[in-house]
Amino acid sequence: MKHKLRHPIFNIIKDITSKSQKEAFVIGGFVRDLILGRPSKDIDIVVLGSGIELAVEVARKIGAININIFKRFGTAMLKYGDMEIEFVGARKESYSKDSRRPFVEKGTLEDDQNRRDFTINSLAICLSEKNFGKLIDPFNGINDIEKKIIITPLDPSITFSDDPLRMMRAIRFASQLNFEIYAPTFRAIKYNRKRIKIVSRERITDEFNKILMSKKPSRGLKLLDKSGLLELIFPELFNMKGIEIINGFGHKDNFIHTIQVVDNISLKSNNLWLRWAALLHDIGKPRTKKITTDGWTFHAHEFVGYHMVPKIFKRMRLPLNEKMKYTAKLVRLHLRPISLVEEIVTDSAIRRLLFDAGDDTDDLMMLCEADITSKIEKKKKQFLNNFKNVRAKLKEVEERDKLRNWQPPISGDIIMNTFNMKPSRDVGIIKKSIREAILNGIIPNNYEQAFEFMIKEGKKLGHNLNSD
Ligand code: CTP
Repeated sequence: MKHKLRHPIFNIIKDITSKSQKEAFVIGGFVRDLILGRPSKDIDIVVLGSGIELAVEVARKIGAININIFKRFGTAMLKYGDMEIEFVGARKESYSKDSRRPFVEKGTLEDDQNRRDFTINSLAICLSEKNFGKLIDPFNGINDIEKKIIITPLDPSITFSDDPLRMMRAIRFASQLNFEIYAPTFRAIKYNRKRIKIVSRERITDEFNKILMSKKPSRGLKLLDKSGLLELIFPELFNMKGIEIINGFGHKDNFIHTIQVVDNISLKSNNLWLRWAALLHDIGKPRTKKITTDGWTFHAHEFVGYHMVPKIFKRMRLPLNEKMKYTAKLVRLHLRPISLVEEIVTDSAIRRLLFDAGDDTDDLMMLCEADITSKIEKKKKQFLNNFKNVRAKLKEVEERDKLRNWQPPISGDIIMNTFNMKPSRDVGIIKKSIREAILNGIIPNNYEQAFEFMIKEGKKLGHNLNSD
C-alpha cells in the first residue's frame, strides 16, 4: 500500500537521497497521525546513515537558517514552515537496568522500529525514489490502528523497562485516541509501575498534561488509577478515592466526582489551567473530612486546597507563575458563586466576587457549572438554572459598578499628599476603608466620592489636611 505524502519536505528528501544513494523514511507519530487523519506538528525522519548529513543537505536546499545539531545524539532538527523536522540515523538501542540512557549503535530500519514504544508508533514510510510512499509495517501496526489497540512491538516488560515513561504514554494514547490497551500490555504496566521513579518529573507531567487535554480526560485518569501509577505520581489525587460510611452516613467518591468535573469542563474549554483547576478544586477534601452528628463535612476544603496548589505545581514542575495563581484562585473561589444562588443576595456580595475573581469570573462560573455532577436530571437543571441567575446578577452589577479588575480610585500618593503623611500603616488603613466602602455600596466606585470619603477617614485617624 502506498501513502500520499503531501508535505513538500518529502519530495525534497526524495530528490536528495536519490542522488546520494541514501535511504530515508518518515517514521513514528507522523505516520500514525497521517493514517488516523490527525494533524501533526512534527516529522521524524530516520536515515540509513547519518541523519545530520541529510539534515544539512535539506537545510541547504530549502534555505533553512536555523538548524540545530546535536552531535552527541546524532540528531539534527530544523523548522520548515510550521513543521519541526528531526533527522536521525537508524539505530539499535540497549538499556541497562538502572538507567534511562541507552547504549546506542548504528542499526537497520528494523532495529529502529523494534526499539519503539508501540506498534502504532513503529510504522515507517519509505522516501526513496523507487518506493516512495510505501508503508513498512513489520508489527502490523496498521491493523492495531484499525482495531484501536495499544500494544508494544516487543515483550512489554522489555519496552517498559527500557523507558518507563512509555507506561504513561500508553495511557496517554489510550485517552487521546480513545484506544484500548491490550490486556497483557496493561498487566505489564501494573507490574513495572514502580520503574516510573527513574523518569524525570518534566516528562511525566508532559504526558499527564496530554491526558488532561484529551477529549475525555477521565479515561486516562481512570487508567492511571487502575495501573497503580496514580498513587505514585499524584498521591493527593489518589487520596480522594473511596467512600467511607460511618453511622449510616456516606459521602461521594471524590475522585470519581473530580474526574467527571474534568470531563465536563473539557466539553466547554481547551484551557489547560482551567482543566487543572477542575482537577484540583476539591483536592483539600481528604484533609478536611470530618464526621459530625449530621454527616460528613469538608469544612474550608477550598482554602486547604488553595494552599496545596503551589506544592503540587512545584513537584509536578508546572509553571510557578500566573498560571499557578489562576489555578489556585479558582480552587479558592469555587464555592463562592453557590452562596450567590439565594433569591435575595446583597449587591455587596456580588461586588466582592467580581472584585476577587476579576477577569476570571467567567472561567469560575464555567467551573461551578462543571461541578454539577448530579445524576438526577431535575436537580441538574435546577442547579444550572441557579447559576444562570447568578450570571445575570453578576452581569447587572458589573455593568453598573465596573468592578472587574478594580483599580483603587484613590492611590496611596493622593492620600499622603492630601494629609501630608509619610508612608505608614494609616495610609493602608485609609485605602482599605475606601475599598470596603465601595464594595459595601456605601459610596459609588468613583474618584469624587472616594476622595470625600478619604478626607473623613483621614480625619477620623487624627490627620489634618495639607495646608500647602
Ligand atoms: N518514542 C518511543 N518511546 C518514547 C518516546 C517516543 O518509542 N518514550 C518513539 C515513538 O515511535 C514515537 C516517536 O518516538 O512515535 C516520536 O515521539 P514523540 O514525538 O514523543 O511522540 P509522537 O508519537 O510523535 O506523539 P505526539 O506528537 O503526540 O507526542
